[in-house]
Amino acid sequence: MANAYGLVASPAQAVRGKNHACTSIYRSTVISTRVHCSSNVEGAETLGAGVAASESRVPRLLSKGCKLVGCGSAVPSLKVSNDDLAKLVDTNDEWISVRTGIRNRRVLSGTDSLTALAAQAAKNALEMAKVDPDDVDLVLLCTSTPEDLFGSAPQIPRALGCTKNPLAFDITAACSGFILGLVTGSSYIRAMGFKNVLVIGADSLSRYVDWTDRGTCILFGDAAGAVLLQACDSDDDGLFGFDVHSDGDGQRHLNATMKQKEMEHVAGSNGSALGFPPNRSAYSCIQMSGNEVFRFAVRAVPQSIEYALQNAGLSASSIDWLLLHQANKRILDAVATRLEVPSERVISNLANYGNTSAASIPLALDEAVRSRKVQPGHTIATAGFGAGLTWGSAVVRWG
Ligand code: COA
Repeated sequence: MANAYGLVASPAQAVRGKNHACTSIYRSTVISTRVHCSSNVEGAETLGAGVAASESRVPRLLSKGCKLVGCGSAVPSLKVSNDDLAKLVDTNDEWISVRTGIRNRRVLSGTDSLTALAAQAAKNALEMAKVDPDDVDLVLLCTSTPEDLFGSAPQIPRALGCTKNPLAFDITAACSGFILGLVTGSSYIRAMGFKNVLVIGADSLSRYVDWTDRGTCILFGDAAGAVLLQACDSDDDGLFGFDVHSDGDGQRHLNATMKQKEMEHVAGSNGSALGFPPNRSAYSCIQMSGNEVFRFAVRAVPQSIEYALQNAGLSASSIDWLLLHQANKRILDAVATRLEVPSERVISNLANYGNTSAASIPLALDEAVRSRKVQPGHTIATAGFGAGLTWGSAVVRWG
């Protein structure tokens, strides 16, 4: 099991005097060093085949802090209610809402594009932050459902009209994707001097749901959410602590694995290998053992949040908001009870959108910020969990 804790120093830690030993190592070895990083070829105006050159990013001084300065979201227009699902499978609104808290979900339809949804969420985040697309130097698209096998992230700067080709790549970590994107983005800022990092969570699990399986099709919806993470002075740091994990042993409880389409193979008469050429592959629908995933979530998530809070030098009683991956209301309630966070401090919008995988945290954050529930300076404990298995938490300040 991989196991990493957020050991990066934050002003909160300095003030609260709970620094982990590794924090001082980080400070003494990294902050004083110049880091050289380049995402593209320097000095060339075009790279052939119509590929535009990007600005070199070498060298840059390290930044010491990062903060969340903008958020945005976008959802498909097609709304699917529990009653709509009852026409497809043997279920009903009461069962779904009592067992999950979900009433509606949004689903991509027709020519809808997840990449376009992700770009819209990113545009909204940049507008809120009043940051020009050309000032973005990294785009992380956290998704398990890209529209290109090789990743959809480079399409986001194109859609935003960036002329400087920022580095952009996908992160695949299912429903924990946004948390891992946040931690990855902060590392690019803190250790490599990047200034404006778009962290986007976007997923369309509806494309991988078996719509005849009532155990899974009731849960998922499609959406995109984004946060702009910006470099700042250490005094202003807004990522107080984090904690991240994965455990491949739990994959059997939640997966959508590759399955091969049967093709006729010609036995290699001239000594070529049997089984060549390889079968054409496609992903199977989501397979889930709901009870096992439920048990994993209520056990692992509170513990992870406690680690992240400990790392931040904070207690659960001092946070303003608990913002969990929106999987199931009963999971949210169980985690809040375990952490002794009252229900009025739990952010939840899953009744309207269901489980939108990597999008769920930034989507809920965006709604809470735009409705002025979450105010600048508020502390949020947030956690993602899901397939992989992966899970993790971050304690952040909004604004
Ligand atoms: N409508 C009506 N009945 C349903 C149903 C549905 N959509 N789905 C299952 N049932 C039935 C079952 O067949 C079972 O019937 P039985 O008692 O006659 O055998 C009964 O309801 C109970 O099923 P069970 O699977 O034990 O229900 P549950 O209370 O565990 O709820 C989940 C099922 C999926 C809602 C719940 O386990 C869950 O949310 N797990 C976490 C999943 C998750 O969050 N995954 C994503 C993580 S990122």
